[in-house]
Amino acid sequence: MEDRRIKKVVVLGGGTAGWMAAAYLGKALGPGVNITVLEAPAIPKIGVGEATVPNLHKTFFDFLGIAEEDWMRECNASFKMGIKFTNWRTPGRGEATARPHGDSVDHYYHLFGLLPNHENQPLSHYWTHKKLSGQTDEPFDYACYREPPIMDQKLSPRFLDGTKWTNYAWHFDANLVADFLRRFATTKQGAVHIEDKMTEAVIDQRGHVSALRTEQGRTIDGDLFIDCSGFRGLLINQAMKEPFLDMSDHLLNDSAVATQIPHDDDAEGVEPYTGSIAMSSGWSWKIPMLGRFGTGYVFSSRFQTRDDATLEFCNMWGVDPETQPLNHIKFRVGRNRRTWVKNVVSIGLASCFLEPLESTGIYFVYAALYQLAKHFPDKNFDSILQDRFNAEIETMFDDSRDFVQGHFSFAPRNDTAFWQACKELKLADDFQEKVRMYKAGLAVNMPITDESTYYSSFDAEFRNFWNNSNYYCIFAGLDYLPDHTLPALAARPDVLDSADAVFAEIKQKQKELMATLPTTHEYLKQLHGK
Ligand code: FDA
Repeated sequence: MEDRRIKKVVVLGGGTAGWMAAAYLGKALGPGVNITVLEAPAIPKIGVGEATVPNLHKTFFDFLGIAEEDWMRECNASFKMGIKFTNWRTPGRGEATARPHGDSVDHYYHLFGLLPNHENQPLSHYWTHKKLSGQTDEPFDYACYREPPIMDQKLSPRFLDGTKWTNYAWHFDANLVADFLRRFATTKQGAVHIEDKMTEAVIDQRGHVSALRTEQGRTIDGDLFIDCSGFRGLLINQAMKEPFLDMSDHLLNDSAVATQIPHDDDAEGVEPYTGSIAMSSGWSWKIPMLGRFGTGYVFSSRFQTRDDATLEFCNMWGVDPETQPLNHIKFRVGRNRRTWVKNVVSIGLASCFLEPLESTGIYFVYAALYQLAKHFPDKNFDSILQDRFNAEIETMFDDSRDFVQGHFSFAPRNDTAFWQACKELKLADDFQEKVRMYKAGLAVNMPITDESTYYSSFDAEFRNFWNNSNYYCIFAGLDYLPDHTLPALAARPDVLDSADAVFAEIKQKQKELMATLPTTHEYLKQLHGK
């Protein structure tokens, strides 16, 4: 029988996506497959992409057999226990600290993990009942999760002996990650690294790419080509002519201005969360690492000029736009109609892009690699493998797009043309249905797993990535509440009362943790040997 196995995989691009693809496929496909990475050193990587989500370690690094401490040290990584949203409810230009909001201040957290259940209903639903009936003024996040006061105090998600007490993700230096994975893939897995610029894709009579020609006269042939060439989409959009579906009718932001700011960790500690600060025409990320934080203002060029956005951003951090090194980035929002066409699979920015409000970029990379390994073809390229893979990626992206759009749609601020325009954008039908469920008091996308197994089954998580806990953090955080208690719960005052013990337990746990945890700075200094 003819051997139809794929033997040669060529990855175009050596950014985070390219090296993640080489390392992941190297492991998933085993030593019988040759992997070549073609990278043009003169074409810079995007170099941002510093905040992640919790399944990164289990789904990617653990799969490769790399210990968390090892890659953290190599990539200057720090911890992320969630996202702190600041000033998403109050009007004004960018301010790094929370503005007054009612009796409190304008911030809320988006935490990881699942909420505790009580009598088969998530705790969110008991909080809603208390809130709507005037029994509590405590914000949803502080009432239902252990983490918020601990994050306020910049304490660590691990004890000094390494014990983890909560779910967390990481911040890291994107360029160090690509570099670390390059060394891993080339020295440990035998991937071949070619530094040269692709000038042409050779197409055979079936319309497949058969080889890449380069500036220095090479011809690199392969059976399967992974397009990680970034926003240019050289193989998928240019050679295969697959259309990129622009989704600026869902999300208005198309630009960013980014920089690094030195930080006095000894004086101020290290925040164990990503910051997301609302601005006049978008929002800014703040990603703390040892000795510095990465930050960038993601804005809509339809509503603010590059100069004014730069000024607002620099004023917020007290830096001079004339002397501060600034990276200006234009991006496309949306995804390819099909991620995989013939023998070309696009991964990373060549495949899809969503503004990094929920840190989905790197997640999309390894989620696509996981799905590719699951649907991996032979030389027959059975179209059902491609169709199923493409359907998975489409759902993954569109679901995240809608969740991100919800942040802008339900933010109560309306003080600029940008924030007003966000309210006028159409929400996808599927998302509108979820909002109706939420308003009616139902849990949206309740996972079938519980907290102890949620992050250990990637398939289960992938199918239910944004679940009730996520929707609640954002919607309740924005003061967008259900219309009433879920009727089935309202009919059971005894069950409602007995949930008080769960709330009390959270308070007790918060106290114990606050008294015993090290600071994030202490933990990171120990880890990085500083
Ligand atoms: P990237 O552009 O980095 O790499 C492309 C590669 O292709 C380069 O190596 C280049 O040399 C090569 N290339 C191009 N043309 C070539 C040619 N002709 N021949 C050979 N090689 C060629 N994600 C996240 O998870 N968390 C976050 O916080 C953020 N933040 C963020 C902010 C902003 C403003 C943006 C735009 C993006 C993010 N991301 C993110 C997304 C993240 O940056 C992105 O997913 C990864 O870095 C992957 O990038 P790529 O490797 O796809 O492209």
